[in-house]
Amino acid sequence: MSAFWHWFIVIITLAFTAAMVWLFIATGKAKVPSGTNSEGKETTGHVWDEDLEELNNPMPRWWLWLFYGSVIFSLIYLVLYPGLGRFEGVLGWSSQGQYEQERAAADAAFEDRFGELVALPLEELALQPQALEAGRNLYRTNCSTCHGSDARGARGYPNLTNNHWIWGGEPEQVWTSIYEGRIAAMPGFEGALDEQEITRTAVFVQQLAGQSVDSEMATAGRRHYDLLCAACHGPDGTGNPWLGAPDLTAGIYTYGSSIDDLRYTIRNGRNGVMPAQRDLLGEARSRLVTAYVLSLNANGSDG
Ligand code: HEC
Ligand code: HEC
Repeated sequence: MSAFWHWFIVIITLAFTAAMVWLFIATGKAKVPSGTNSEGKETTGHVWDEDLEELNNPMPRWWLWLFYGSVIFSLIYLVLYPGLGRFEGVLGWSSQGQYEQERAAADAAFEDRFGELVALPLEELALQPQALEAGRNLYRTNCSTCHGSDARGARGYPNLTNNHWIWGGEPEQVWTSIYEGRIAAMPGFEGALDEQEITRTAVFVQQLAGQSVDSEMATAGRRHYDLLCAACHGPDGTGNPWLGAPDLTAGIYTYGSSIDDLRYTIRNGRNGVMPAQRDLLGEARSRLVTAYVLSLNANGSDG
């Protein structure tokens, strides 16, 4: 905060407080002309329409004291806590310090509660109701924006419940996907293939997934596939979890199944990024959320 704003705040705050006190003292002292009406009540002496009188009802005392009390409170507060420009307050309190204290306390409580649990192997952790409950909460706050609140994914974000894995479904592989993150690199083939060749290749990809397609086009597409795609997606199209190249025979797509979706993927490539949770959630929480994701696939559901 620059010196100007520091003094700006200090002067305005103190001047305003002083002005309020002065206002109350001044109005409290102002003389009210007094009289009494026919019922013996005190009046200010003002009369309208011949018989309407203004009664003299001063503010209740307690209200006035409440006001002075709050002025005194705010002055004490401004001495103890930050509030007056750059003045830090004699207690040395700061929101940053409080945040760090609370965070350290939360981490200690977390360690108390889950320290032993998260040391279990992931398969066993995925059977512990307490771990799954915590994992579900972590999932909701950290993963659902991309993978959906039901973890069934969305366009560009894989379904995490169908027991079908791009990067491998062994507990250690799922763990790596989450903790280390994943960066998929599917190159675009705009330069290598013209539009017609792209369409034929897309048709062959549909055939790989078991759709009935124009066989002539698929045969033509297969040549491009063998040359350009098999290295990553495998000669039979079943993919390669080391590269994150999806199985193209399962009919499960992250980026859509229509001929236009496939053509777009082949022409422009795709670069999905799963953010590493190492620095976001840390190890213990990542283990809990991994256990939760594994549990979603425990019954070996269909594809
Ligand atoms: C360098 C390795 C590599 C090559 C070569 C490659 N791919 Fe891919 N492909 C990938 C990766 C990795 C992904 C996943 C991209 C992502 O998740 O963002 C992918 C994704 C796809 C998808 C999207 C699947 C989905 O889930 O929506 C299709 C379709 C596809 N590739 C077809 C092809 C075709 C056809 C070719 C050849 C013309 C090809 N790929 C060549 C690595 C490759
Ligand atoms: C910013 C969006 C985003 C967030 C947040 C996110 N993910 Fe992902 N995740 C992705 C994308 C995109 C992929 C697919 C990467 C690719 O193209 O292969 C992915 C892939 C995965 C995979 C691998 C799936 C497979 O089939 O192999 C797992 C497991 C996963 N995420 C779990 C999680 C968990 C658990 C969280 C929360 C801690 C999370 N993700 C948060 C975007 C996200």
